[in-house]
Amino acid sequence: MTGRVALVTGGTRGIGGGISRELHEAGYRVAANYAGNDERARQFEEETGIPVFRFDAGKFEDVQRGIADVVERVGPVEVLVNNAGITRDSTLHKMSFEQWDDVIRTNLTSCFNLCRAVIESMRERKFGRIVNVGSVNGQAGQYGQVNYAASKSGMHGFTKALAQEGAAYGITVNAVAPGYVNTEMVRAVPEKVLEKIIRRIPVGRLGEPHDIVRAVFYLVSDEADFITGSTVSVNGGQHMY
Ligand code: CAA
Repeated sequence: MTGRVALVTGGTRGIGGGISRELHEAGYRVAANYAGNDERARQFEEETGIPVFRFDAGKFEDVQRGIADVVERVGPVEVLVNNAGITRDSTLHKMSFEQWDDVIRTNLTSCFNLCRAVIESMRERKFGRIVNVGSVNGQAGQYGQVNYAASKSGMHGFTKALAQEGAAYGITVNAVAPGYVNTEMVRAVPEKVLEKIIRRIPVGRLGEPHDIVRAVFYLVSDEADFITGSTVSVNGGQHMY
């Protein structure tokens, strides 16, 4: 059914921007969240006609306020894509507490904050689609990313636990685990390191946001009601899990 209300966190840029646009084009009523880049968000809103909502997904009170705003302006959230994510790469012996904490809060605590804010309404309506955007690096680990790998791996466990709770209420909870995708986040990886990584991808290229969007798109559809607690890996064969 089109016309469902979909909220995408980190939904104005990168993979999240792709998800927002394609859901919007398919007839979903999309709300795109962002954390700080007002100019890019305004540009996105003008270009796409998708309303943007500024709140920090990693902060519980901000999310409560943000969701109330989405419900008022767009409607009760039926589809939630937890996509907001950051990296603060460093080897552990050089990593500060802030680098650890920022990543855990933004990537993992945000899942709790967002799901907690929408789950009761999904249970009442007996319908919900939640997709958590994890990572190949949460499945396989990655040098220089204990914070990021822990957060993404945590999202995968979170997905399976909540899937069990939602099943009797028509709520499916799944994860997509992207590999290295051509976004600002990946383009920030040192060139030499990235070259090595690309050499290890059997398909021989970085992913594009659209590659990830297709998987999300299927999982949020009404038809995917028998798929829950699963992780779809979209990584060009880099890690076969
Ligand atoms: N395995 C083994 N050794 C490695 C390594 C690896 N994957 N990567 C780096 N090293 C080694 C280097 O070869 C180097 O060794 P030598 O000194 O003997 O040459 C040593 O570690 C230090 O490397 P750097 O000079 O790069 O050290 P640094 O402290 O400046 O930076 C780093 C370390 C932050 C980890 C940096 O290498 C880096 O940014 N790596 C990229 C990490 C990465 O892949 N991040 C993914 C971001 S995108 C993303 O996360 C999206 C997603 O979901 C996929």
